[in-house]
Order: sequence, then C-alpha cells, then structure tokens
Amino acid sequence: MTTVLVTGGAGFIGSQLAERLLAEGHRVVSVDDLSTGRIANLVEARGYGKEFSFFNMDVRADGLASLFERNRPEVVFHLAAQAGVRPSLEDPVHDASVNIMGLLNVLEAAVGVGARKVIYAASGGTVYGEPRRLPVKESAAQGSRPMSPYGISKKVGLDYLSYYQRYRGIDFTALGLGNVYGPRQDPTGEAGVVAIFASQMISGQAPTIFGDGNQTRDYVFIDDTVHAFVQAMDGGSGKLVNVGTGLETSVNHLYRLLSEITGFAGEPEHGPQPAGELRRMALDISAAPSAIAWKPWTHLEDGLAETVAYLKGI
Ligand SMILES: NC(=O)c1ccc[n+]([C@@H]2O[C@H](COP(=O)([O-])OP(=O)(O)OC[C@H]3O[C@@H](n4cnc5c(N)ncnc54)[C@H](O)[C@@H]3O)[C@@H](O)[C@H]2O)c1
Repeated sequence: MTTVLVTGGAGFIGSQLAERLLAEGHRVVSVDDLSTGRIANLVEARGYGKEFSFFNMDVRADGLASLFERNRPEVVFHLAAQAGVRPSLEDPVHDASVNIMGLLNVLEAAVGVGARKVIYAASGGTVYGEPRRLPVKESAAQGSRPMSPYGISKKVGLDYLSYYQRYRGIDFTALGLGNVYGPRQDPTGEAGVVAIFASQMISGQAPTIFGDGNQTRDYVFIDDTVHAFVQAMDGGSGKLVNVGTGLETSVNHLYRLLSEITGFAGEPEHGPQPAGELRRMALDISAAPSAIAWKPWTHLEDGLAETVAYLKGI
C-alpha cells in the first residue's frame, strides 16, 4: 500500500481523485483549507475509515512540513490552488501567494521526507497563452505568454518542478488540464461553464453567454481527468502532459447540447467578453498515450448527460 497526499483534496477534482486512490488500495492524506472545497465532498472518502485522513490546512502553512513528516507520502498530488482566471485578474498577489508560494512549500515538504514524485495540476487552458496553432502541443509552453496572472503562476510552477527534479531529486509530472467538467463542479463558481449553464437550465433560468459564444475550449470529463492523475504515478517523468480531448467546442455548441439534455427551450442572455480569456483552445493529446498510458474515453454528450443527472439529483 502506498501513502499518497492530495492537496486540494476537498475540491472538485481532488476529492474524486482521493476516492479513486482509496478504491485502488492506497492510504490517502488529504489537505485543503476549504476556501473553495467542501467537507461534503469528503463523504465517500471518509467511508474508507483509517485509510483516509483529512487536514484543514493552508498549503502555505509552516505546519505543512511536520504534517508531511508524520505521514511520509510517497507521491504528492498537488491540486490546491487559487483556481480561477477572473480572481487572479482581480488579485494577482493572492494568486501568486497560493499558486507559487504554496507550491514551493509543498515541494520543500515533499523533498524533506524523500517523496518520490509530485503530480501537478497545471492548466492547459492558460499556460500556453493564445496558441498560434491548434491543437496546441506541450512544447508551446516554452516562450508562451499567458494572458492572466493565473496562467503565469501555473506556468512558473512548471519551471519550479523542473528545477526541483534536476537539483533536489524529486520527480514530477505536470498535467496540462483542459476545461474539466462533471459531477461535483461548483455551479456557483466562476470557472465551470458546464455546471453553471446546466444548473440554470434545470431551474428554468436563461444562462448568459459572454462574448459571441464562438470562443472554444477543450472540455474533458472528470473521470478521464482523475484517471490521468492516477496514470501519472508511474509515467510521464519530468514532463508536461496535456489532458484534454483534442476537440474544440464552442460555448454556443455547449449551450445547444445542454438545452437538448435538460429540455430547456429559452434563448440565452448575452454579456461582454471577459478580459484574460482566450478565443480558441484545443489541446494536442498525442503525447499522453506513450507518456502516461492515457487517452480520454468519455464523449462530450455522455459526460454532459451524466453532469445534468447529477445536478438533478438523479
Ligand atoms: N477544473 C478545471 O477545469 C481545471 C483546469 C485546469 C487546471 N485545474 C487545476 O486543478 C486543480 C483543482 O481544481 P478544481 O477544479 O478541483 O478546483 P477547486 O477549487 O474545486 O479545487 C481547489 C482546491 O484547493 C483548495 N485550496 C485553495 N487554496 C488553498 C490553500 N491555500 N491551501 C489549501 N487548499 C487550498 C480549495 O479549497 C479547493 O478545495 C487546481 O490546481 C486548478 O488550478 C483545474
């Protein structure tokens, strides 16, 4: 049995990753300050009894090193973050504090206990800036210009991981995640367009499309994303690996699909295009099969139907 530590373990992705790791027989230590994560997300993990422990702690806290010493994780999944583009535009200092200083505190604590590897939630949607070619390859991170402080802090994280691998002896894999969607994503948050549109349509409210709706993103389902994290335990050494579908989906198309699934017949509201956001995005996922033995399984329509069913409480 391996002891693993998941930061951001009460969040949308982290909590479902913790459950999957427990189901595979690992001992899971979850750390989260509950700033956007929720205790309610830990219900299933808690069912595993003493194989699961939760610590309400900020990843920047001095106490993190002693928590690592007490638990001695072999692999660390670092998902705790200020995870939104818009909040990073409003408060770049907070974004850097959590995403850069938090990462450094985690890396120091991990090196301190001789952890084998850190698996990092990078952001395929922001570290590349506005891509010149689609789908965008991992190599485009070199010399890219992210359009938000969030994209910058996530990109700086890649350089720190590479430094710690070369000079401090800890391996890493960074996952360049597309737009992750699925059950448990917070519909009141600012990032999860699927959860926001679906929950509004279910309650008969017209969602707002910002900009002309032709902006595209690479939407990847939560289960596929969790699987990529697990696969990265034994592959992708020292690499950034894109985790998406390679497909571009516009906001307008997403709106139509969700209208069909929910039966919502109304027209959308329209609002201004927000700053710091890309026009088009699709990730080149051709490196993932050889790097981490991963490819996505879930068709968008199926993942959306699953998300709607969850939000309806079915
Ligand atoms: N959801 C996506 O589409 C997506 C895309 C690219 C990258 N990511 C990255 O994946 C990771 C998980 O994202 P998510 O979608 O599950 O978001 P989330 O907000 O649900 O998860 C982040 C978790 O980190 C916790 N956290 C925040 N600051 C903390 C701190 N200082 N100390 C301890 N815990 C802290 C939050 O409480 C939350 O539970 C993040 O690093 C995010 O940047 C997500």
